[in-house]
Amino acid sequence: MDLKEAIYTRRAVREFTAEPVDEEILRQLIDAAVQAPSAVNQQPWSFCVVRDKALLARISGEAKEHMLRTSPAALSHHFQDILSDPKFDIFYRAPALIVISSVVESPWAVENCALAAENLMLAARAAGLGTCWIGFAQTWLVTPEGKAALKLPANYMPVAPIIVGYPKAAPPAVPRKEPDIHWIDV
Ligand SMILES: Cc1cc2nc3c(=O)[nH]c(=O)nc-3n(C[C@H](O)[C@H](O)[C@H](O)COP(=O)(O)O)c2cc1C
Repeated sequence: MDLKEAIYTRRAVREFTAEPVDEEILRQLIDAAVQAPSAVNQQPWSFCVVRDKALLARISGEAKEHMLRTSPAALSHHFQDILSDPKFDIFYRAPALIVISSVVESPWAVENCALAAENLMLAARAAGLGTCWIGFAQTWLVTPEGKAALKLPANYMPVAPIIVGYPKAAPPAVPRKEPDIHWIDV
């Protein structure tokens, strides 16, 4: 698959087959991720790969509870209902979660990890895998308890939790808005 096709056909995938993703393939995705640019070429990222189903279920439960407890006002009724549902798994039963963390305190920590995440998601698409960035996991993963669950040192900052698996079906296209473009010419 060429780059253009990967960019135009990547979609958030939220339904996965039970097929596990081989370590070799996960390593290839991470290798694509680290080709991303980073500020002053620090390459300040770390990848935590979670395939332990019990840990994924625990993180899902902790993250839902944390969001409902700490930011109920910021959540719409729709999200409050979803997060209150004990059956809702924020990771959609994906076989793997890759959490990209910044290993340095940097004003560009988020940018660096997000660029690596997009490379990873496009490489996954090209390999026939589906991905979705799970923002729902972020507020708990950055807490001391969240970092401990991932065995991350206290100074690491989890930025991009990306689920990975084989899609059950092709997800529907999500139409894009017309880009807001300002041309400033001489
Ligand atoms: C920072 C970020 C956080 C996101 N968090 C979630 C999430 O918690 N749960 C979820 O199902 N999708 C999440 N998504 C996926 C978006 O909903 C999805 O990318 C968007 O609807 C556009 O659809 P597409 O990726 O198929 O083009 C997130 C995406 C981004 C970039």
